Order: sequence, then structure tokens, then C-alpha cells
Amino acid sequence: MKETHILAIESSCDETAAAVVTDGRRIRSNIISSQVPLHTLYGGVVPELASRAHIERIDAVVQEALKDAGMTLPEVDAIAVTYGPGLVGALLVGVAYAKALAFGLKKPLIGVNHIEGHVSANFLEHPELEPPFLSLIVSGGHTNLAFMKDYGVFEILGRTRDDAAGEAFDKVARAIGLGYPGGPKIEKAAREGDPEAIHFPRGKVDEAPYDFTFSGMKSAVLNYLNHAEMTGETVSQADVAASFQAAVVDVLVSRAMHAAAELHQDKLVLAGGVAANGALRTALADACARAGITLYAPSLILCTDNAAMIGAAAYFRYRRGERAGWDLNAVPYLEL
Ligand code: KG4
Ligand code: ZN
Repeated sequence: MKETHILAIESSCDETAAAVVTDGRRIRSNIISSQVPLHTLYGGVVPELASRAHIERIDAVVQEALKDAGMTLPEVDAIAVTYGPGLVGALLVGVAYAKALAFGLKKPLIGVNHIEGHVSANFLEHPELEPPFLSLIVSGGHTNLAFMKDYGVFEILGRTRDDAAGEAFDKVARAIGLGYPGGPKIEKAAREGDPEAIHFPRGKVDEAPYDFTFSGMKSAVLNYLNHAEMTGETVSQADVAASFQAAVVDVLVSRAMHAAAELHQDKLVLAGGVAANGALRTALADACARAGITLYAPSLILCTDNAAMIGAAAYFRYRRGERAGWDLNAVPYLEL
């Protein structure tokens, strides 16, 4: 059968990315231009700067993705792009670029949900993985327990009521003076700390066993820091980082395992930027091994934002004949 090559573009937040993916499963190229150095100065992502940086970089990133794949634009079968959720100005750069490219080349255009992309990163490294399966999606903007019934078809079982897991990492990192990007910095600091030094609350939502809440945990960290400042106690950044990370991991693992048991699942698929966290990966792997569940997680580079995952998700939509119109627009709060 003829292979399908999709050129995918991702610009929803602070990475400008392009990739060529074959048949939704094989990465031909995966180029990521990170804006981390640009935003570090401000302690977080500055949306206007992100949009401008996408505009400056997108053309070169796409050219590099094609070159790396050893392909030319006419050889590509379709153009895919993230159209939400994300920062509106950032998304618009990718959407406008992809539309122009597809229109000019007379190629099909496919709009992809960024969160579906995160889950689909797993298809690139686990050839045997097929829906249906339970997934734990933990990113900077989302924390979901979702059941992927079919390619691109989700049923949300649980969601966060306040902060996303990654957002909590970022806010706590800022509070303890680690700065942006918070997740990797907390993970690094935590390696030197004691995860049992401080007990932070593991918030639960009554009557919603699969929902998450991280705001109480975050407030407890802030209270701990304020109290220490008032009483003149020295704060161990490493202990706070390790104890906070342990609390987040505990909540994520226990909710996911509860859902897997209740729904009689023998597969669990991890996805999103926080999936890069080593403590989470280890704890989830241990819990899954004990429960006889096969855990699927992307390698680190495919956990955080990239375009290969968008190309993977796009393929299964392309195969079903789904095409976006020329009116495709950025949808900052797009639902799964
Ligand atoms: O999925 P992602 O790259 O972007 C969104 O779609 O939001 O996730 C970014 C989030 C950030 O909040 C970042 O702090 C977190 O993922 N993150 C981590 C780690 N690497 C990235 N959190 C914990 N540990 C990490 N190693
Ligand atoms: Zn993401």
C-alpha cells in the first residue's frame, strides 16, 4: 500500500515545531525550536513574544523538517496543524502558515487537537498500541483521565477542577525561586531533597473520584514558605521540591490506578509534558507492574511539545477522510 507522509506543524505555546510522519507511526523528521531562553528572562511564557518568535522561526523549522526527512513539499500527502488548545496568537501562526501551504500546494489540510496529539505521541513508539485504552494526560494546561475509544474519540472520565499538574509545577517552582521552566527544575532540585520532609495535602474532589485538584497543594506550599519566612526558618528548596513532587505523583498515580481497576483496564497510556517527570514514570511503572497493567509512555522528547505527535494524530483523521476547510481558525479553549 502507498505510504502517507504528513507534514505537521505545532506552535501552540513556546516551541516552534515541524515534523514529517509516515503512516502515523514513523518519524521521518522532528524539528523543535525551543523558546525557553527567550522566556526565561520573564519567568514564564510571554504570549506576544511567543507569537513573534513563531513567525520568525516557522519557515526555517518547516524547511529543516523537510530536509531532515529527505523530502520536498510536493512529496508530502497532507499538511497538519495544531489549532487548539493553546495561546491564540501562537496558534494563529501555525494555522495561517499551514493553510497557506496547503492552499498553495493543493494538498489536504488537517486540524489537530494538541491534547489528542500528546496521547498520539505513543503511537510513534509503540507500534502495537491501538485504542481503546485509558490515558492519563498531564500537561501544562490539562490534567485528564480519558478513555480513548477509537483514534481521535475520547471520553473524559476526570479533569482538574483548578490548576493543571504542569501549571502547579510551574507555580511552585516560581515560589521557591527556581523559575521557568518549572517542571524540569523541580525534578532536578527534588533529587537532592527528602520527599517525606514535608507533608503536602493530596486534594480530592468529593463525588468525583477521577477529578483532580492541585490548588490546595499549591496553597500549602505557599503557606509553608510564608510561615518559614515569618519565623526565620531556613527553607530547603530541595525538600520542598521533593515533597511537592511526591504529593503530585501520589495523586496522579492513585487516581489513574483507581480508574484502571474500576474500568478493568490492562493498559494505561501516559501523555503530556509532565509525563517527562522521572518520579512519575517510576511510580506509575511500579504501580502498573503490581497491578498487571502494561504502561505506555513516550520517550522524553515526545512528552513535551513537538510536531511528530501532531502528525501521528493527523494520520488517523486523514485515513477517515477528515479534512479541514480554509476557514480553519485557532481555538484557544478547544475541548478534547
Ligand atoms: O505538554 P507540554 O509540553 O505543554 C502543554 O501542552 O501544556 O507541558 C508543559 C508542562 C509544563 O508545565 C512543564 O513544567 C511540565 O510540562 N514539565 C514537567 C517536566 N517537564 C515538563 N513537569 C514535571 N517534570 C518534568 N520533568
Ligand atoms: Zn503540550
